[in-house]
Amino acid sequence: MTNPISVAIVGLGTVGTGVAKLLLQHADRLKTRSGRDIQLRRAVCRDLSKPREIELPDGVLTDNWRTVLEDDDVSVVVQLVGGTTTAREMMIAFLKAGKNVVTANKALLCEHGEELFQLAREHDCTIAFEAAVAGGIPIIAAIGQSMTANQIRSIEAILNGTSNYILTEMLSQGRTYEDALKQAQELGYAEADPTMDVDGTDAAQKLTILARLAFGTTVSLDEFPRQGIDSVALADLQYAAELGYRIKLLGVAKVVDGHLEMHVQPTLVKQDRPVAQADGAFNIIAVDGDAVGRTWYTGPGAGQMPTASAVVADLVDTVAGRTRLTFPLLDLWGERTPLPVQAPDEITSRYFLRFSMEDRPHVFAEIADILGRNGISLASIMQHEASESKTQAGSRPMVPVVVMTHRTTRGRMQAAEREFQQLNTLQPPWILLPVAD
Ligand code: HSE
Repeated sequence: MTNPISVAIVGLGTVGTGVAKLLLQHADRLKTRSGRDIQLRRAVCRDLSKPREIELPDGVLTDNWRTVLEDDDVSVVVQLVGGTTTAREMMIAFLKAGKNVVTANKALLCEHGEELFQLAREHDCTIAFEAAVAGGIPIIAAIGQSMTANQIRSIEAILNGTSNYILTEMLSQGRTYEDALKQAQELGYAEADPTMDVDGTDAAQKLTILARLAFGTTVSLDEFPRQGIDSVALADLQYAAELGYRIKLLGVAKVVDGHLEMHVQPTLVKQDRPVAQADGAFNIIAVDGDAVGRTWYTGPGAGQMPTASAVVADLVDTVAGRTRLTFPLLDLWGERTPLPVQAPDEITSRYFLRFSMEDRPHVFAEIADILGRNGISLASIMQHEASESKTQAGSRPMVPVVVMTHRTTRGRMQAAEREFQQLNTLQPPWILLPVAD
């Protein structure tokens, strides 16, 4: 029942340290749940001299990942190295050496998943990746196993904790974008380089993994629209709130007329919907299946212990032999016919448009004319007077205006936007955000 098994952690950063803590603190429960005595044989770090939050048993800490590779007793590797170059090289080596891998690296799976999953199968190994999407929320298990009876119709999700934390703090606490980002980094939510958190790349990488699982379709990042929260100002959050919406960095993957529509964008969501109510570093994933209907999964989507929780669950599944059964059946690159990806110009939505406009007669008529000529119908217009007017160089009075449109295509909206750029009565930046159905 409790014969020992040696495991290694490669990458002793925020999450790796959390995993080591759980292995040491919860050894008894993990032994019961896995049926094996899980022994941490090696923990690979970059810098041996760095102070650590945990005390590891003698001889465990090393800065040479090849000691793990060459140790035949280590049969499971928890690989928590970021990036796609060294991380790919390591994973290939571990799989070729017949070691099962647990990873949280969504960038690696998004970019090289097909190659790595194929290699794992060839070498009779498994890759477990629950922690790669939505931190501590068991969404891979939900879509990969629990919803097997369903054809998934749509996924609508907040998948980046850092962005959600920043948007929440800006609106609720009046904090600046920079201040909220700094705090998200200190709390361990953000990536080492937070650019990919705030420009939408991290959420898009996670969405491609979910889309692969749910729809059997591989979509590369350049095939669908991606925009981050770095383009959103406090004024947008406030105007959206005035209209009854929250702005969330929303990832959507859904089947529309036989096509897979995907996008990651700051999006207005009605404030009473569950997705609008996931605040702070929480993630939420709404999954609509044809048998079960709409389901929601929510919880901490970033941070040391939530992510370590998912990693350790994968480790226990691997040690207990469960991934050996489930991994080959995930149908990640299998029999299903991929869906064609919806062309970005054809994606339809309502839109929120904010701009500063010169405050004089007939200016709004020019805007309405551009929208009208592009077949875009106005749903509402909001203009606040004097107190929020700004005076630009040359003393032209400017006034902020928010327009909500009826449903139109992204192509038409972008054509209108190009025409706005020619108007000298408008002052950039103008903001254009979709509104969720
Ligand atoms: N930086 C990520 C986030 C952590 O903020 O969601 C989990 O991938």
